[in-house]
Amino acid sequence: MRIAVVHGPNLQLLGRREPEIYGIATLAEINRGLEALAAELGAELEFFQSNSEGALLDFIADAATRVDGFLANPGALTHTSVALRDAAVGVGRPFVEVHLSNPAGREPFRQQSYLAGVALGVVAGFGASSYLLGLRGLVEHLRRGSGGTG
Ligand code: DQA
Repeated sequence: MRIAVVHGPNLQLLGRREPEIYGIATLAEINRGLEALAAELGAELEFFQSNSEGALLDFIADAATRVDGFLANPGALTHTSVALRDAAVGVGRPFVEVHLSNPAGREPFRQQSYLAGVALGVVAGFGASSYLLGLRGLVEHLRRGSGGTG
Protein backbone atom coordinates (compact mmCIF):
# COMPACT_ATOMS: atom_id res chain seq x y z
CA MET A 1 0.00 0.00 0.00
CA ARG A 2 1.44 3.31 -1.07
CA ILE A 3 0.25 6.74 0.06
CA ALA A 4 1.28 10.24 -1.02
CA VAL A 5 1.44 12.90 1.68
CA VAL A 6 0.82 16.34 0.18
CA HIS A 7 1.59 19.58 1.99
CA GLY A 8 0.36 22.85 0.51
CA PRO A 9 1.52 26.47 0.75
CA ASN A 10 3.49 27.76 3.73
CA LEU A 11 3.68 24.42 5.49
CA GLN A 12 7.45 24.42 4.96
CA LEU A 13 7.41 27.18 7.60
CA LEU A 14 6.04 24.93 10.33
CA GLY A 15 7.97 25.21 13.56
CA ARG A 16 8.33 28.98 13.23
CA ARG A 17 4.97 29.88 11.64
CA GLU A 18 2.41 31.08 14.20
CA PRO A 19 3.39 28.36 16.69
CA GLU A 20 0.47 29.31 18.95
CA ILE A 21 -1.83 28.08 16.16
CA TYR A 22 0.19 25.45 14.33
CA GLY A 23 2.47 24.13 17.09
CA ILE A 24 6.24 23.82 17.15
CA ALA A 25 6.75 20.64 15.14
CA THR A 26 8.59 21.20 11.86
CA LEU A 27 7.43 19.66 8.61
CA ALA A 28 10.40 17.27 8.73
CA GLU A 29 9.34 16.16 12.22
CA ILE A 30 5.76 15.63 11.08
CA ASN A 31 6.99 13.59 8.13
CA ARG A 32 9.22 11.50 10.41
CA GLY A 33 6.26 10.77 12.70
CA LEU A 34 4.23 9.70 9.67
CA GLU A 35 7.07 7.43 8.47
CA ALA A 36 7.19 5.72 11.86
CA LEU A 37 3.44 5.13 11.89
CA ALA A 38 3.43 3.98 8.28
CA ALA A 39 6.10 1.39 9.07
CA GLU A 40 3.92 0.11 11.91
CA LEU A 41 0.87 -0.02 9.62
CA GLY A 42 2.70 -1.57 6.69
CA ALA A 43 2.28 1.37 4.32
CA GLU A 44 4.83 3.17 2.17
CA LEU A 45 4.79 6.95 1.96
CA GLU A 46 6.05 9.57 -0.40
CA PHE A 47 6.07 13.26 0.47
CA PHE A 48 5.54 16.44 -1.50
CA GLN A 49 5.32 20.06 -0.42
CA SER A 50 4.84 23.05 -2.67
CA ASN A 51 3.78 26.66 -2.48
CA SER A 52 2.61 26.48 -6.07
CA GLU A 53 -0.91 25.37 -6.92
CA GLY A 54 0.21 24.17 -10.35
CA ALA A 55 3.02 22.05 -8.91
CA LEU A 56 0.56 20.45 -6.49
CA LEU A 57 -1.87 19.67 -9.30
CA ASP A 58 0.91 18.14 -11.42
CA PHE A 59 2.16 16.08 -8.50
CA ILE A 60 -1.32 14.74 -7.70
CA ALA A 61 -1.98 13.70 -11.31
CA ASP A 62 1.41 12.00 -11.55
CA ALA A 63 1.40 10.35 -8.13
CA ALA A 64 -2.09 8.96 -8.66
CA THR A 65 -0.61 6.51 -11.16
CA ARG A 66 1.44 4.87 -8.40
CA VAL A 67 -0.33 5.47 -5.07
CA ASP A 68 -3.49 4.07 -3.51
CA GLY A 69 -4.50 7.26 -1.73
CA PHE A 70 -3.56 10.74 -0.58
CA LEU A 71 -3.16 12.37 2.80
CA ALA A 72 -3.30 16.10 2.16
CA ASN A 73 -3.05 19.35 4.06
CA PRO A 74 -3.83 21.82 1.28
CA GLY A 75 -3.16 24.84 3.54
CA ALA A 76 -4.88 28.00 2.34
CA LEU A 77 -5.76 26.33 -0.99
CA THR A 78 -8.37 24.42 0.99
CA HIS A 79 -10.44 27.59 1.00
CA THR A 80 -9.81 28.78 -2.55
CA SER A 81 -8.98 26.03 -5.01
CA VAL A 82 -11.65 24.56 -7.24
CA ALA A 83 -8.76 23.17 -9.31
CA LEU A 84 -7.48 21.15 -6.38
CA ARG A 85 -10.93 19.75 -5.75
CA ASP A 86 -11.24 18.82 -9.42
CA ALA A 87 -7.84 17.10 -9.30
CA ALA A 88 -8.77 15.18 -6.16
CA VAL A 89 -11.96 13.92 -7.79
CA GLY A 90 -10.40 13.48 -11.21
CA VAL A 91 -7.60 11.11 -10.21
CA GLY A 92 -10.04 8.70 -8.60
CA ARG A 93 -8.02 7.96 -5.45
CA PRO A 94 -9.36 8.42 -1.93
CA PHE A 95 -7.92 11.31 -0.03
CA VAL A 96 -8.07 12.47 3.56
CA GLU A 97 -7.93 16.20 4.30
CA VAL A 98 -5.98 17.14 7.40
CA HIS A 99 -5.36 20.40 9.24
CA LEU A 100 -3.24 21.22 12.24
CA SER A 101 -5.70 23.86 13.42
CA ASN A 102 -9.48 23.63 13.31
CA PRO A 103 -10.45 25.96 10.46
CA ALA A 104 -14.14 25.66 11.37
CA GLY A 105 -13.45 27.64 14.54
CA ARG A 106 -11.33 30.34 12.91
CA GLU A 107 -11.94 33.28 10.55
CA PRO A 108 -15.03 33.02 8.33
CA PHE A 109 -12.92 32.69 5.15
CA ARG A 110 -11.40 29.49 6.56
CA GLN A 111 -14.75 27.94 7.27
CA GLN A 112 -15.30 26.84 3.69
CA SER A 113 -13.35 23.89 2.31
CA TYR A 114 -13.58 23.10 -1.39
CA LEU A 115 -12.11 19.70 -0.64
CA ALA A 116 -14.03 18.44 2.38
CA GLY A 117 -17.15 17.49 0.43
CA VAL A 118 -15.22 15.13 -1.83
CA ALA A 119 -12.77 13.82 0.79
CA LEU A 120 -12.96 10.39 2.35
CA GLY A 121 -12.69 12.19 5.68
CA VAL A 122 -11.35 15.29 7.39
CA VAL A 123 -9.22 15.47 10.55
CA ALA A 124 -8.62 18.93 11.99
CA GLY A 125 -7.58 20.59 15.20
CA PHE A 126 -5.22 18.02 16.70
CA GLY A 127 -1.93 19.60 15.65
CA ALA A 128 0.57 17.13 14.21
CA SER A 129 -1.64 14.30 15.45
CA SER A 130 -4.21 15.24 12.78
CA TYR A 131 -1.82 13.76 10.22
CA LEU A 132 -1.36 10.55 12.22
CA LEU A 133 -5.09 10.10 12.76
CA GLY A 134 -5.73 10.79 9.09
CA LEU A 135 -3.13 8.23 8.04
CA ARG A 136 -4.70 5.58 10.28
CA GLY A 137 -8.13 6.25 8.81
CA LEU A 138 -6.88 6.15 5.23
CA VAL A 139 -4.93 2.91 5.75
CA GLU A 140 -7.94 1.26 7.40
CA HIS A 141 -10.15 2.34 4.52
CA LEU A 142 -7.73 1.04 1.89
CA ARG A 143 -7.29 -2.24 3.73
CA ARG A 144 -11.04 -2.79 3.87
CA GLY A 145 -11.24 -2.05 0.15
CA SER A 146 -8.69 -4.72 -0.68
CA GLY A 147 -10.54 -7.37 1.30
CA GLY A 148 -8.36 -7.22 4.42
CA THR A 149 -9.66 -7.36 7.96
CA GLY A 150 -9.49 -3.60 8.43
C1 DQA B 1 -4.12 24.87 7.77
C2 DQA B 1 -5.34 25.79 7.93
C3 DQA B 1 -5.46 26.76 6.76
O1 DQA B 1 -6.56 27.62 6.95
C4 DQA B 1 -4.20 27.59 6.64
O2 DQA B 1 -4.28 28.42 5.51
C5 DQA B 1 -2.97 26.77 6.62
C6 DQA B 1 -2.86 25.66 7.58
C7 DQA B 1 -3.93 23.96 9.01
O3 DQA B 1 -3.22 22.97 8.87
O4 DQA B 1 -4.46 24.26 10.08
O5 DQA B 1 -2.03 27.04 5.88
O6 DQA B 1 -4.34 24.03 6.64
